[in-house]
Amino acid sequence: MKFLGKPSSRRAALLPLCLLFLEILHPGHSHLYSSRYAGDKVIRLIPNTEEDAYALKKIYQQLKVDLWQPSSISQISEGTVTDVHIPHNGSRALLAFLQETNIQYKILMEDLQKVLEKGSSLPTQRSRRSVSGYNYEVYHSLEEIQNWMHHLNKTHSGLIHMFSIGKSYEGRSLFVLKLGRRSRAYKRAVWIDCGIHAREWIGPAFCQWFVKEALLTYRSDPTMRKMLNHLYFYIMPVFNVDGYHFSWTNDRFWRKTRSRNSRFRCRGVDANRNWRVKWCDEGASMHPCDDTYCGPFPESEPEVKAVANFLRKHKQHIRAYLSFHAYAQMLLYPYSYKYATIPNFSCVESAAYKAVNALQSVYGVQYRYGPASSTLYVSSGSSMDWAYKNGIPYTFAFELRDTGHFGFLLPEMLIKPTCTETMLAVKNITMHLLKKCP
Ligand SMILES: *[C@@H]1O[C@H](CO)[C@@H](O)[C@H](O)[C@H]1NC(C)=O
Ligand SMILES: *[C@@H]1O[C@H](CO)[C@@H](O)[C@H](O)[C@H]1NC(C)=O
Ligand SMILES: *[C@@H]1O[C@H](CO)[C@@H](O)[C@H](O)[C@H]1NC(C)=O
Ligand SMILES: *[C@@H]1O[C@H](CO)[C@@H](O)[C@H](O)[C@H]1NC(C)=O
Ligand SMILES: [Zn+2]
Repeated sequence: MKFLGKPSSRRAALLPLCLLFLEILHPGHSHLYSSRYAGDKVIRLIPNTEEDAYALKKIYQQLKVDLWQPSSISQISEGTVTDVHIPHNGSRALLAFLQETNIQYKILMEDLQKVLEKGSSLPTQRSRRSVSGYNYEVYHSLEEIQNWMHHLNKTHSGLIHMFSIGKSYEGRSLFVLKLGRRSRAYKRAVWIDCGIHAREWIGPAFCQWFVKEALLTYRSDPTMRKMLNHLYFYIMPVFNVDGYHFSWTNDRFWRKTRSRNSRFRCRGVDANRNWRVKWCDEGASMHPCDDTYCGPFPESEPEVKAVANFLRKHKQHIRAYLSFHAYAQMLLYPYSYKYATIPNFSCVESAAYKAVNALQSVYGVQYRYGPASSTLYVSSGSSMDWAYKNGIPYTFAFELRDTGHFGFLLPEMLIKPTCTETMLAVKNITMHLLKKCP
């Protein structure tokens, strides 16, 4: 609940004149999340043997660590790099255990609270930039993002139409932007969603960036013009609205939805394990307290059901499904749930290869690409696999920057470079689907 300084100074960013006064009332933001992460550490561990992996799984469960990478304890095995967020009162026990077992480790963050506070821009920076328009280089709260969508719906009605596809568990509207020149009734379409996982804030920031770039360059950039003339983009900037809101107000590292469980106190379902495709099998958990909980049944989450219904209804037009996550720097395609090659592998693979090269051409940032199962890890019930199984031929999941230095706390300073390079990859994939794949 306590989020001192931020909401007020954010609102103030829209009203530069009031800013001075509000900033005096809310200086800085040294009490983000009531300092609950002070002294917490993020540690990278690499188990070299199966015994090490087994021992790690056990101590993770004991100490109730917050697993950053991979997302589930079941995905830890010999040689897997694992990043864990360990609360301050458990870090001594973990470090002692590591010394004893000789497991390789590296401390990525000594004090999570400090990293959290350093990564967000200063209030003055927010206001300075916002004078010349909307600031796309800061993370925005759900309320700000929804206001932004309403604003675009009014001011850019030629290219944008905003609508709701349903309501979240807590009753929030699930808004989608339909982007593209309204010419023919029938146009092929691309679905883009961001923020399935609440704590991956760079996702929603990218969705906003994409829309901004589209509007800004529609007239000047022939590629963008072609994209918006020939296609519709359905863009859902925040898929998991309840979780995203919660990650701003209560727990920065919340991942799941916020639905309640009848038998357990733990809330939330992993919205990327809740789809009806090999549901709740490998890489998903049946336990409601786990971060990869698959839910009581497929599409139990109203957010998942709403998107699945929309995709089912429009699947004959939708040529591509793109989902934005963080972090790992990867471009993934099906399957997630098994080690097997998809039918049109070569078309999808070459699209990924070119996209990753286009991305790298900007700042040299390297992405790995390949089937999710063998490139990241096996996980069942994912949106990408479901979309593919339902006839959308190009389905991808991006794992955006970085590779663990900041993890989920990617500083606002890196929003611009991350989105700039990702933009090229998305444009490249999109242009690929306008051509006929052999
Ligand atoms: C750390 O503190 C939390 C909350 O106070 C508590 O639930 C947990 O059991 C503690 N962990 C250890 C290892 O002492
Ligand atoms: C977007 O604008 C159109 C008219 O321009 C309106 O009919 C529609 O209700 C608006 N969408 C939302 C979600 O308010
Ligand atoms: C896509 O990227 C490749 C390089 O990987 C480049 O040769 C090609 O021109 C790009 N296509 C578009 C449309 O951007
Ligand atoms: C593979 O590509 C061909 C040609 O584009 C298409 O007709 C077919 O439906 C695709 N199959 C799958 C499973 O995507
Ligand atoms: Zn994710």
